[in-house]
Amino acid sequence: MFETLGKAPVDGILELSRQYQCDQRNDKIDLGIGVYRDEANQIPIMRSIKAAERQLYQVQKTKTYLSPSGDPVFGEQMIDLVFGADADPDRISACQTPGGTGALRIIGELLAQARPGTSVWLPQPGWGNHEVIFAAAGLELKFYPYFDPRTGGVEVSATLDALSAARSGDTVLIHACCHNPTGADPTKAQWLQLAKFLESRELFPLIDMAYLGFGGGLEQDGFAARLIARTCQESAIAVSCSKSFTLYRDRVGAAILVGKSKSVRDIAFGQIQAVARGMYSMPPDHGAAAVRTLLGDEFLRKQWRDELEAMRTRIVRLRADLASAQRRFTHSYRRSQIERQNGMFSCLNLTPDQVRLLRDRHAIYMLDNGRINISALQSEKVEIFADALASI
Ligand SMILES: Cc1ncc(COP(=O)(O)O)c(C=O)c1O
Repeated sequence: MFETLGKAPVDGILELSRQYQCDQRNDKIDLGIGVYRDEANQIPIMRSIKAAERQLYQVQKTKTYLSPSGDPVFGEQMIDLVFGADADPDRISACQTPGGTGALRIIGELLAQARPGTSVWLPQPGWGNHEVIFAAAGLELKFYPYFDPRTGGVEVSATLDALSAARSGDTVLIHACCHNPTGADPTKAQWLQLAKFLESRELFPLIDMAYLGFGGGLEQDGFAARLIARTCQESAIAVSCSKSFTLYRDRVGAAILVGKSKSVRDIAFGQIQAVARGMYSMPPDHGAAAVRTLLGDEFLRKQWRDELEAMRTRIVRLRADLASAQRRFTHSYRRSQIERQNGMFSCLNLTPDQVRLLRDRHAIYMLDNGRINISALQSEKVEIFADALASI
């Protein structure tokens, strides 16, 4: 049986990580994998999460099955986190999922069922796994230009030009904040333009929210989801708790559906539960239970907000330091855009040869498209990195 299979494609990020592990140089720097690293180069677990896990350990009496949509309290908390006072209980519901990836996949399946043959439009550049997830769900993939390397910002007119070719009912995937890989997010004015466009063309907005709290802060990072829910009749949000709660391998996320009415929302929510039932029956719960405990406890909730804010502000500081170090080393403002972008990632405008040179000569690892994880640049590495960049 298995001999009929071809080799699976190599995952570029995992391959890069393997090469990094094999590199014997002591001064090697890993800017590849997209996880938050602290000043000690560790991938920490938040103290608030650890405390919530301890509480959970004391009080949890059973690990019996949940339902395909997970724990309803967790779902309500996710809605509250994104929508706050804007939450409309008649239009919005949430389903606990295995990470943001699980949320994207079951939303993709739901869309393929609702509109067989529909397309999903993905930003370019974008997160490579989107293509895998939506192709597996049976959606046709289309792409729109997103990033302007000259300004380091969003190329909104080119985006809208490309999306003019979308058919009514097509899905448009947008990153809520901290766009992966570029760190370029629409301004508020651009979001307004985009939301109006999507509504007028009857396009379905699917918001990927994988870095909540890392961009402008918790309140600002939910702006696009709230605006789109107000402007467009229907939308969906795939929330990932991997980065925002440091729970990566525990697989915690939520699929939030916004319907045009209560009855339509109820039908969609029933169907997405049926999709989950057929794919993994029900989501893993340990990580979500820790989030539920944390968000339900005033002290831990505050501690978590402070920890998340400290991660965010550290990245903002690193961005400013890197921009200023590059100005010193190159006597040019070319890379000052790094300072204006958001979240863990930026895409340096490098050729694959330059990326290879950095790896071979300087033991600096980044993705082939020039994406760097800024959080992995501890303060003392900023100058070393800027110097190496200037030399190539
Ligand atoms: C843009 C984007 N969406 C979704 C995800 C998926 O997150 P999770 O690990 O929770 O599945 C990631 C993770 O890297 C991401 O970068």
